[in-house]
Amino acid sequence: MKRILLIVGGGIAAYKAAELIRLLKTRGYAVRCVMTEAAHHFVTPMTLAALSEDKVYTTLWDLKDEAEMGHIQLSREADLIVVAPATADLMARMTAGLANDLATTLLLATDKPVLVAPAMNVRMWGHAATARNVAQLRADGVTVMTPDEGIMACGEYGPGRLPEPPAIVAAIEATLAPAPPKRLAGRHVLVTAGPTHEPIDPVRYIANRSSGKQGFAIAAALARLGARVTLVAGPVMLPTPHGVDRIDVETAREMADAVDRVLPADAAVMVAAVADWHVEPSQQKIKKGDATPTLTLAENPDILATLARSPHRPRLLIGFAAETERVIEHAVAKRVRKTADWIVANDVSGDVMGGADNSVHLVTEAGVESWERLPKDAVAARLAERIADALEAAS
Ligand SMILES: Cc1cc2nc3c(=O)[nH]c(=O)nc-3n(C[C@H](O)[C@H](O)[C@H](O)COP(=O)(O)O)c2cc1C
Repeated sequence: MKRILLIVGGGIAAYKAAELIRLLKTRGYAVRCVMTEAAHHFVTPMTLAALSEDKVYTTLWDLKDEAEMGHIQLSREADLIVVAPATADLMARMTAGLANDLATTLLLATDKPVLVAPAMNVRMWGHAATARNVAQLRADGVTVMTPDEGIMACGEYGPGRLPEPPAIVAAIEATLAPAPPKRLAGRHVLVTAGPTHEPIDPVRYIANRSSGKQGFAIAAALARLGARVTLVAGPVMLPTPHGVDRIDVETAREMADAVDRVLPADAAVMVAAVADWHVEPSQQKIKKGDATPTLTLAENPDILATLARSPHRPRLLIGFAAETERVIEHAVAKRVRKTADWIVANDVSGDVMGGADNSVHLVTEAGVESWERLPKDAVAARLAERIADALEAAS
C-alpha cells in the first residue's frame, strides 16, 4: 500500500482536500494529513481525520509527537508528499527553504518526492514572485502542477484554480510510477537553448523571441534518462534543470566556441535560435543626434552545419527549425542542406515562442512524423526516448 502525506495549505480550495482524500482512499492509498495553521480557517481537522482514518498533524510543538521526532517520522513513513492546496505563501516558504511550521519543516527534512498542486487568486499566480518560486521549485526537483483556469472563489477568471482532485490523483500516480530506466547512462549529450544577443553598442542588441523553454525541457528530460547533459544557453531567465551542466553565452560566436569546447558528445540537440547575423558593435553608445546609423550585418558561424562537418560530429545530430510557413518543406530541405540526422520543425507563427505547448514535426531519413500539440515537457520526454532508441540502435 502506498502512503501519501498530504499537506493542506490555507486557501479556499482546502475543502477540495476532503474529496482528494476520499478518492485516494478508494484507490487503496493510506493518507495522513498535515494542516497549516491557516488551513484550520477553511476546513476542520475532524473532517480530514474522519476521511483519512488517521490522526491529523497540525503543529511542530506537540510534546508527545516531537518526543519521537514527529516531523522526521512523518516524511520517513511516506512514499510521496503532496501539497494540496499549495498557497502562494507555502510555495514561497518552500522555495526559500524556510522551516517555521510543521509543514515546511518536514518538507525541508524530507528526501521523498514532492508533488505540489497550487491554488490561488489569478494575480497571485501571475505575480513575478510566484512565477520565480514555481520555476525554482521545479529546478529543485519538485513536481509543480499547473493550476486550472476558470471562475475563482473571489469572482475573478483565470488560471489559479486547484486542479480537480481526479487530476491530482493522476499526477500522484504518475509521480509514484517507477522512474524511467536510465537508458542514456554513460552518454554525453549537448543541448543548445534560448536566443542569442548580438550587440549593436554597449546598451543595445539584436535578439529574437526564443524563451529557451523547449531546450531546457529537453536537457531535463535527457538528464532524467541518465545522460550527462551540457546545456549551452543563450540569455534566458530560466533555472538550470536538475543534474544539468550549464554554460551561459550571449552571442552566436560565443555559442559556437562553447559548443566546440564541450565536444565530444554522443548526441547534440541544437534547439537554440541562433542569430544568423551580427554587426560590428560600436564601442560607445550610438547617440540619437548623430546621423541615423546603418547596421551592416555580417554572417554568424552556422553552428549546426559546422558541427555536421566536424571530426567530432556526434553520432546523432539534431537541429531545430522554427518556421512560419511551409514548415515541413523547409525542414526537409534543411535536414539535407545541413546534413543533420534529424530536424525537429515547429511552426512559430502562433504562440509557441514563450508558450507552454509545442506542436512539432520530426523529420528523419525515414520521413516526417507530425506529433500532436503537447506541453513542451512532453515533447522533450518523447524526444529523449527517441534519442535513446537511436543511440541504442547505433551501438
Ligand atoms: C478567505 C481567504 C482565502 C484565501 N485563499 C487563498 C488561496 O486560495 N491561495 C493562497 O495562496 N492564499 C489564500 N489566502 C491567503 C492565505 O490564507 C495566507 O497567505 C496564509 O498565510 C497561508 O498560510 P499557509 O501557507 O501556511 O497555509 C486566503 C486568505 C483568506 C482570508
